[in-house]
Amino acid sequence: MNPLDLLRPEVRSLTPYTIEHTAAPVKLDANESPYDPPAEISLKIREALERIHLNRYPDPGAAGLKTVLAEMTGVAPDQLLLGNGSDELIGYLITTFLGQGKGVLFPSPTFSMYGIIAAAFGQRAIPVSLTENFELDTTTLLEVARREKPQILFLASPNNPTGNAFARDQVIRILDAFDGITVLDEAYLDFSGTAGYLKELSRYPGLVVLRTLSKIGMAALRVGFLMGRAEVVAQLEKVRLPYNVNACSAPPRRRHSGAQPGPARSPGRVSKGHGGQARREQCVPRVFEALL
Ligand SMILES: Cc1ncc(COP(=O)(O)O)c(C=O)c1O
Repeated sequence: MNPLDLLRPEVRSLTPYTIEHTAAPVKLDANESPYDPPAEISLKIREALERIHLNRYPDPGAAGLKTVLAEMTGVAPDQLLLGNGSDELIGYLITTFLGQGKGVLFPSPTFSMYGIIAAAFGQRAIPVSLTENFELDTTTLLEVARREKPQILFLASPNNPTGNAFARDQVIRILDAFDGITVLDEAYLDFSGTAGYLKELSRYPGLVVLRTLSKIGMAALRVGFLMGRAEVVAQLEKVRLPYNVNACSAPPRRRHSGAQPGPARSPGRVSKGHGGQARREQCVPRVFEALL
């Protein structure tokens, strides 16, 4: 028996996502930060790593990290799903919401993993070209959505690889009209000087917001997080693999921790810290309060 005869056709036609390792200090292809986090944070991370018991499974729900992220973003912990990078969360969205042969819509060019993961799970990838100045072609996008009936739409804003944040009125037009799950991938929000779309969760039940620590200097930790309505997150929880966030990504907290995050606020009240650099400085130490 040749095991390759059993391959799913979708997988046969895929090519592996290869990442070239180069010695260049600035890696534009990976969009990594060229800077380590501030020294005191790196030190705290190293101290936290020493508290890990390698023989034990990590906290299955990464509750400490989730509490800090909830406080930082203003959503309730049951509105949050953590992933091994946001790549994993893109996979969970596609497995949870798409049946056989349903479509995944996204503008093109954009982050390649939307199309790759869709194809790997046997879904139709439906790209719609951006305009010449890299804006959304909203009219065409909505026409295609009505015709093809995709169940998920991915919008990375700011977009990779074009670097621009899409015009807010166009994104809102899409949120008003698209009859499916709209994923706002905010991997690069901290560099945009814009508020993002978290506040819109209260208006749009099908909206899901994705963020990651990878682009603000902690790509090695592999922490992505998703925010949505609690009822949506509860369904995604069903396909999450146990222990998907490992002990290095969310190490155990010190028992005598004095840093107790306050209660989570509702998404409607997320108002502070929307400036790019200011936000980076604010949020990086807050994230690591969980480790102290
Ligand atoms: C738009 C976008 N979303 C998500 C990711 C994946 O990030 P992570 O490292 O959290 O898996 C990337 C990485 O390049 C990206 O460009």
